Amino acid sequence: MKTLIAYFSRHGCTKKCVGILADYLDSEIDFIDLSRSSASDVDVLKYDSIILGSPVYYGNIAKEVKVFAESESYKLKQKKLGLFTCGMQDQWRAKEQIESNYPKELLDIAETRACFGGEYHFDRMSLMEKVITKKVAKVNKDVSTVDEEAIKAFAESMNKANLIGT
Ligand SMILES: Cc1cc2nc3c(=O)[nH]c(=O)nc-3n(C[C@H](O)[C@H](O)[C@H](O)COP(=O)(O)O)c2cc1C
Repeated sequence: MKTLIAYFSRHGCTKKCVGILADYLDSEIDFIDLSRSSASDVDVLKYDSIILGSPVYYGNIAKEVKVFAESESYKLKQKKLGLFTCGMQDQWRAKEQIESNYPKELLDIAETRACFGGEYHFDRMSLMEKVITKKVAKVNKDVSTVDEEAIKAFAESMNKANLIGT
């Protein structure tokens, strides 16, 4: 059983969640960091399951993840698929953000989808991001809402789906 986790991370939280997720998955795992590598470097068809993850900024997932999801959707539809986001909005808005960002045809067939929470790290933000976070989110210190239980539940759904697929 082989899993690909394709993700983007600007300030490190999504990457950290990918590490936690990997520990809970009963699978051999390859990673592609779409902030560093091109999606064309990977052969999706080699994998039994694919997990896509992105942070949400200004209501949108990373362009790199969106492009990957859209351009590979025909192949992704043939796989066990999991979709997640990282973000600081409440669960209700997080659900909306997942539904408005990932392609509907992938949302329809995904085994699981979730928001894992997010983090603010002021030392990793640009000046503009600091100003916006202070003004809009009204937060002025580092915060983490990463939900390990949500990550574990997501991994369990993927493990179960992979077991059925064998
Ligand atoms: C400028 C800025 C805009 C953001 N916009 C959103 C947003 O629209 N929705 C949301 O849920 N979280 C938003 N966030 C929170 C990020 O999604 C969160 O910090 C996430 O953990 C970042 O992941 P990364 O460290 O992998 O880049 C925003 C954060 C910043 C700094």
